[in-house]
Amino acid sequence: LRTAGEADVASATTTEELEALRVRLLGRKAELPNLLRGVSDLPPQERGAVGKAANQARQALQALIDERIATLADAELDARLVADRVDVTLPGRPEPVGGLHLITRVRREIEDVFLGLGFDVVEGPETETVHYNFDALNHASNHPARDRADTFYLAPSTRLPAVERPGDPDAEDGGSARLLRTHTSPMQIRTMERQDPPVAVIVPGRVYRPDSDATHTPQFHQVEGLWVDVDITLADLKGVLLSFARAIFGDEREIRLRPHFFPFTEPSVEVDVSCFACGGSGIRADQPGHPRCGLCKGTGWIEILGSGLVDPNVLRAVNETRGDDAYDPERVQGFAFGMGIERIAMLRHGVPDLRLLYENDLRVLEQWA
Ligand code: PHE
Repeated sequence: LRTAGEADVASATTTEELEALRVRLLGRKAELPNLLRGVSDLPPQERGAVGKAANQARQALQALIDERIATLADAELDARLVADRVDVTLPGRPEPVGGLHLITRVRREIEDVFLGLGFDVVEGPETETVHYNFDALNHASNHPARDRADTFYLAPSTRLPAVERPGDPDAEDGGSARLLRTHTSPMQIRTMERQDPPVAVIVPGRVYRPDSDATHTPQFHQVEGLWVDVDITLADLKGVLLSFARAIFGDEREIRLRPHFFPFTEPSVEVDVSCFACGGSGIRADQPGHPRCGLCKGTGWIEILGSGLVDPNVLRAVNETRGDDAYDPERVQGFAFGMGIERIAMLRHGVPDLRLLYENDLRVLEQWA
């Protein structure tokens, strides 16, 4: 028994096998312990010799197993240490990091430009009253933008009680009906109502119109600008917007003002920037065959925003609400502008379809990260 056991122990190669052997050779049901328990049944003259031999065999096997376990455990630990060793020369696995959405980045770029020109950044409510969105901005009562097809009106039940102040100037004429603002221009009014001139603010934020195609989404973003001070003229407007256009589209850009109409500015202009794809020539001199420029359609100019001098009617309406003449059009003048952030972003970064920016496919968004 002892010899067979010793051979088994010697050939075991893992500590697990040895534990199994210990049970098989020395455990409760094993042969050797059985034999030891049977010693008392033997004739007295045999008891001493058999008991001694069996005891020695048990101790020897126990010692042998202990010793083998110790050596094997050492070896197994060594093997594990080798296998688990950290190779500090391997390059790390890159962790994916998030980035800002293109619209957020362009919005911040625009804010930085105007902060540098001395404008403050303010925000306003996305739900507005008809008063602030249209009436106070000098829209005629039949102005087409007021149409249900062009404006998201909110059901009366969604009115927030807090805005229905007693003595609300809108209350009599229905101006207190609520809508999702169609532009950031209502903040021109809110800013002048609460702040004395001079004011120079920009207003980034979400606006809403029922429109949907490659260049329109029902919700989009604008940045409004307003500067009211003494002696503000169209030249100030042009200087500020030229600085803006060059900061965003490149130092070589020029701008031009085209006559236009907005109810709340007089005169009103649309502002074009010289095309940064063809340098304003309308022709792609850098491409074979010198084709007509696709970005500006060969005109050399790209429309970027609407603007104008604040209409005296708007200033007078602000005075009326304020109950003073802080914005007397004989004393202060101003200019205002409004641009679409998506439009600037698409032009600058060559985004072919606005909807790509709202589908949140990371493979697409990362291209502009
Ligand atoms: N609010 C106008 C629009 O959304 C843009 C604009 C703003 C025009 C300020 C003139 C002055 O189209």
